[in-house]
Amino acid sequence: MTRALIKVADIIKQGLAKKIVVLAGAGISTPSGLPDFRSPNSGLYDNLEQYNLPYAEAVFDIEYFVRNPVPFFQVAKKLYPGNYAPNSAHYFIKQLQDKNMLLRMYTQNIDGLERLAGIKEDRLIEAHGSFSTAACIACDKKYTADDIKADIFSDRIPKCTKCQNIIKPKIVFFGEMLPKRFMMHLQDLPLADLLIVMGTSLEVYPFSSVADAVSTRIPRILISKKIAGTFKYSPRPNDLVLEGDIVEAVEHLTELCGWKETRLNR
Ligand code: OAD
Ligand code: ZN
Repeated sequence: MTRALIKVADIIKQGLAKKIVVLAGAGISTPSGLPDFRSPNSGLYDNLEQYNLPYAEAVFDIEYFVRNPVPFFQVAKKLYPGNYAPNSAHYFIKQLQDKNMLLRMYTQNIDGLERLAGIKEDRLIEAHGSFSTAACIACDKKYTADDIKADIFSDRIPKCTKCQNIIKPKIVFFGEMLPKRFMMHLQDLPLADLLIVMGTSLEVYPFSSVADAVSTRIPRILISKKIAGTFKYSPRPNDLVLEGDIVEAVEHLTELCGWKETRLNR
């Protein structure tokens, strides 16, 4: 664990990383109290028995949602932004931004904690959308998170005032396209001089492919409890893997870089 961190800290301290790309998944938000998706027992997909889903990921499947939106809205009620705060992992990325080292952060998370930590909109790609806006699945009338919050918290399906169809938060479901912004910024990747991948199983495509789109000359580091994706199946010579807890890792890294404490900018 320490060897990989020392190497990354050296790269940062020597000023060799000025265009860092960060890829994040649900593992950066578990220290804030949110569940991830695929961890055995604690992950969301192991805790959906009561909804009788044909398979766990159906909760985020657009075809299933149109027929039965109830499981998704029950899950949405649990995950809805407002109850959770960012943690050291988010504030570490904010520090990279403040030190002008962050080219872009790509996140799969829909919890909005990156924005809350102060990652600027132009640095951030919310690749799987977020709860911040919503739209009718039939007529595309737009709604805010506040417009539908009361319905979600009262176990009612939010319905469009214009056509009575279901209002769905702008979260990317299986079977839907990723936001244009994700596609547009893929041009960032050849510019990256360091890739930091955090808290993701890299199981969901096309997001996972971002990890492979950076130059083979640059170091890629994975910080997560479990080795994943091409870090496992086709590792590169410059890869660094740190199998461990994210908070411990970023706090250690902050120390090794000689920065002040991670929560500095809270
Ligand atoms: P996963 O649940 O698949 O993976 C999270 C990874 O983070 C796992 O490998 C965990 O071991 C690791 N992890 C959890 N807590 C950690 C901690 N404190 N320290 C270090 N590692 C930790 O989540 P994602 O990869 O984000 O889609 O899942 C990708 C997509 O699948 C999600 O965006 C979601 C889901 O279907 C949508 O919501 C549309
Ligand atoms: Zn409508």
